[in-house]
Amino acid sequence: MVASSLAPQKPIATLVSRILRTSSLSSPVATSLRDRPSRRWLAPLALASATLLAGCGGQRDIKVIKLAHGLDSQHPVHKGMVFMGQRLAEKSGGTLRVDVYPSGQLGSERECIELVQVGGLAMTKVSASVLEGFAAEFKVFGLPYLFRDDAHQQAVLNGPIGREILASPQGKFVRGLCYYEAGSRSFYTKNRPIHTPDDLKGLKIRVQESPMAFALIRAFGASATPISFGELYTALQQGVVDGAENNPPSFHLARHYEVCRFYSLNEHTTVPDVVIVSTHFWSSLTPQQQQWLQEAADESAVYQRTLWKAATEEALAIVEKAGVEIIRPDRAIFAARVAPLHDEARKDPVIGPLNQRIADVRP
Ligand code: GCU
Repeated sequence: MVASSLAPQKPIATLVSRILRTSSLSSPVATSLRDRPSRRWLAPLALASATLLAGCGGQRDIKVIKLAHGLDSQHPVHKGMVFMGQRLAEKSGGTLRVDVYPSGQLGSERECIELVQVGGLAMTKVSASVLEGFAAEFKVFGLPYLFRDDAHQQAVLNGPIGREILASPQGKFVRGLCYYEAGSRSFYTKNRPIHTPDDLKGLKIRVQESPMAFALIRAFGASATPISFGELYTALQQGVVDGAENNPPSFHLARHYEVCRFYSLNEHTTVPDVVIVSTHFWSSLTPQQQQWLQEAADESAVYQRTLWKAATEEALAIVEKAGVEIIRPDRAIFAARVAPLHDEARKDPVIGPLNQRIADVRP
């Protein structure tokens, strides 16, 4: 079984203790876009959020919302979260503050979701692929060549299907707030350039903790190795895997291009990122605060999307300048190789109908 070959889960107690340890190790990148966190702010990190008392004449409560994720602080996805924090602070007159912890400081994506579930963390941003383990609806995004183009993808995500999928993990103490653009995923390899799917044969390729990603890599004829994003650089360096796949900004900002010299833009999947909030935390907010948070998230999604194209072009230019060979293969050959995954999806009671409805969307 695909799922059983994924890494075992760490006990929640270990994750919560990591949060506790974090309070003496590092502090968040707050909404001010600081690159390296200072040790100035060491609030009680054992809580998903904290209430601080601020002076300035009268006293008022400030609710601090902790949001952790795995990407670099220069990443357009991180900048989206910073923007969300700014909008929330403005809407709430400074009474709600988002502190963003980037770069996997509080754990891998799956660990962060588990913390959100138990209320140890208020919010996180993860790839939709990792949410598959929490709500099967997210699997649909793991289907190859799902969207015809950008307009199709946007119509799906911003329409009823997107909202329905976002709401699907509600019973798991997780509430989806919005999608962020995460572009398309393509292969990068250490030693062998990928021009056609045959070039992947026998290679060990890192996958996210996602049964769909696992199935996709196997359909391409490679062997799939699940590794968390934070551990991937070392895994590539040490030859645990021969390659991986991701969008250009992540390939660049995680510095995987230092190890992988070939990047083949076959764009097999377009998996969005998702901002989620703990339902424990959500229900501690007043209806007004919930509305502000949802609006700030929605506005940040629009803003974040405006950053994507330039960030992608910049990433490709930088890695190419650094000596990476960029390959632009015929995507149709890759799509044909993994088309059977769509046939299998048709038989699935959850993603079968979703896949069909997505195909029927006409922007
Ligand atoms: C993308 C995505 C991340 C994810 C990463 C991965 O970069 O934005 O959320 O962690 O892929 O491959 O794990």
